[in-house]
Amino acid sequence: METKEIKAEELDPDKFIEEKVEEIRSIVGDAKAIVALSGGIDSSAATMLGHRGLGDRLRVVFIDNGLMRDGEPEQVASTFKELGVHVEIIDAQEEFFKALSGITDPEEKREAITQTFYKKVFGRLVRESGARFLLQGTIRTDIEETMAGIKRQHNILEQLGIDTEKEYGYKVIEPLRQLRKDGVRKIAKALGLPKEIYDKMPFPGPALATRIIGEVTPEKIEIVRKATTIVERELENAHAFQLMAILHQDRVTGMRNGKRAFGLQIEVRAWDSVDATKATPTILHPNTLRRLGDRITNEIPEVVSVTYNIASKPPSTMEAI
Ligand code: XMP
Repeated sequence: METKEIKAEELDPDKFIEEKVEEIRSIVGDAKAIVALSGGIDSSAATMLGHRGLGDRLRVVFIDNGLMRDGEPEQVASTFKELGVHVEIIDAQEEFFKALSGITDPEEKREAITQTFYKKVFGRLVRESGARFLLQGTIRTDIEETMAGIKRQHNILEQLGIDTEKEYGYKVIEPLRQLRKDGVRKIAKALGLPKEIYDKMPFPGPALATRIIGEVTPEKIEIVRKATTIVERELENAHAFQLMAILHQDRVTGMRNGKRAFGLQIEVRAWDSVDATKATPTILHPNTLRRLGDRITNEIPEVVSVTYNIASKPPSTMEAI
């Protein structure tokens, strides 16, 4: 598939869709394909392109890695059901937590997630179903940041010299790799996806694991999941490109019930950005910040400190890991 960038302003969505649907059909031929749907804009657009091109020969799976936001797997399945697409939820929580156990280095965590996702879970699904292709929503920014050595995006394989057919037993198809987020939004809209998807905040493939500094455990995921729900709720009208709650590893002294509590810290990040290559912190009202701090410390007893990030990307990156 073509790799040259198509800028959002140059994009003709209907023509792009027609071309990619045709390309997917011709690559897959009579074989079967699987798509890795996470419910984000990119994988949702890739799923609809595949669905248009392949119909029932496309198996749509949502991998429940245990790292998603509250209620996410069920919500994604129900949105796609309304679009006539059946989504299978695959419970792989144990495998992911096992792979992440004891790992603290950010890039090693990303690598563990990649291997569990592509080698173990998809390797198995592909073998079971006889599919020969994996369709996925990789976009240009994912490729660039990985190639620049900034952050290994979980979905970059071929570009790093990985022969997926040899290593995992299937070929990867990436119909969106010429686009950035703003281009994908146009495609998603033209594909008839609902506003809740084409306007959806980006959410990374490695999910809440990118928001835990240090080892990822089910207990820490639960804390960051609760904080994420609060942040997304409280800031839903802030018009941010992306919102996140990050759980720090260092503890600080706080107090609970008049006694010392050496507790956890949550960092809130809200970003203004167009395509995620650069970003600045969203200006929030002091009362909003105070309400966030109160809700997080009241509703999550383990947390005694809440901070708001004021650094821009670069030199920051958007996710902490
Ligand atoms: P960073 O942290 O690199 O994030 O500044 C830029 C954008 O990319 C998202 N992101 C990812 N998306 N797989 C993805 O699908 C990943 O491994 C990944 N890492 C970061 C991030 O949420 C932000 O929108």
